[in-house]
Amino acid sequence: MIPPLSTPALVVDLDVFDANVAALSDLLRGTGKTVRPHVKTHRTPELAKRQLGDSAVGVTCATVGEAEVMVAAGIHDVLIANEVVDEAKLERVVELSGQAQVGIVADDPGPVEALSRAAARASVTVGVLIDVDVLLHRCGVASIPEALALARVIDAAPGVRLAGLMGYEGRVRLSTDRRDERIAGAYQLLGETRRALVDAGFHVEVVSAGGTSTLREAIADPTITEVQAGVYAVMEPELLAMDLPFRCAVTVRGTVISRHSGHFVADVGRRTVGLEYGPPVPVGLEATHIAVSDEHAIVTLAGAPPALGSQVDFIPRQIRTTFNLHDHVWARRGSELVGYWPVSARGASQ
Ligand SMILES: Cc1ncc(COP(=O)(O)O)c(C=O)c1O
Repeated sequence: MIPPLSTPALVVDLDVFDANVAALSDLLRGTGKTVRPHVKTHRTPELAKRQLGDSAVGVTCATVGEAEVMVAAGIHDVLIANEVVDEAKLERVVELSGQAQVGIVADDPGPVEALSRAAARASVTVGVLIDVDVLLHRCGVASIPEALALARVIDAAPGVRLAGLMGYEGRVRLSTDRRDERIAGAYQLLGETRRALVDAGFHVEVVSAGGTSTLREAIADPTITEVQAGVYAVMEPELLAMDLPFRCAVTVRGTVISRHSGHFVADVGRRTVGLEYGPPVPVGLEATHIAVSDEHAIVTLAGAPPALGSQVDFIPRQIRTTFNLHDHVWARRGSELVGYWPVSARGASQ
């Protein structure tokens, strides 16, 4: 049952979403690589499932909570691409491993040993990818000797197995200084780490890396086996300048609630649209300025403002926080509403 759309409403254009998913499959075809779509982007199982098949066997999650929601929705292969160190959460990872193929990343022996104890007690095996800090300087081992030491710990511990490497480089914008050099350096480090592990006798099945901004480089790289891109399926305006075959698929639809000469006000505010990368982009209007408060977008424009009560679509610049502000997303094909799905992992940050 699809309820009538009530603004402010999160809306996904399924034709564009599906075309983005197909476009990534086309990019991957013949490369031997897969995509493990990062579902932190939308936290919506119905959308995650549309990304599977063809070139994608499983999803990437940022939190244990996201992974639990995806598995409960019927997704059987999840990678938690984030460090998990507390025992209660590691117990949840083990529990989840009884229901699905679960992988996790680590950059320290302590959590691996704790995970190993819990997994061995439950008689399950959890795949562990060594997180390598290739560029982002967030998490990840800082050197090849550290990676080797961690590989030995994983290898010796029951209940865990070395599944491979992760080297997430972060968003590398077109404006980033020495962009090509930085990406090449990151992937070189990833390749050298893999080589050192293989030379030491370890089997490195998976090398997982890459986001939407580095998709072309990740696909061209010989070491990387799977890309973890997420935003590609719905896109953000900033990434449109890149040479990528994706379009923006999501808008927050608002209603014009006040109208004046030179500006209008829509019921779309920071409680319904993520602002970290700037104000949202109104579709089909030449706005000269947008100010956003809790429940309002005040749009200044040169021409006549749209009619009172009419609807205006806004493309969010930060899609991940936008989804996390909504309980549901409407799906449309053209002007027809075809779905109404819970953003089930909304708030699943634990
Ligand atoms: C570890 C990791 N991998 C992959 C991604 C996906 O990047 P994008 O959403 O830009 O495609 C992210 C995004 O934050 C991430 O944190």
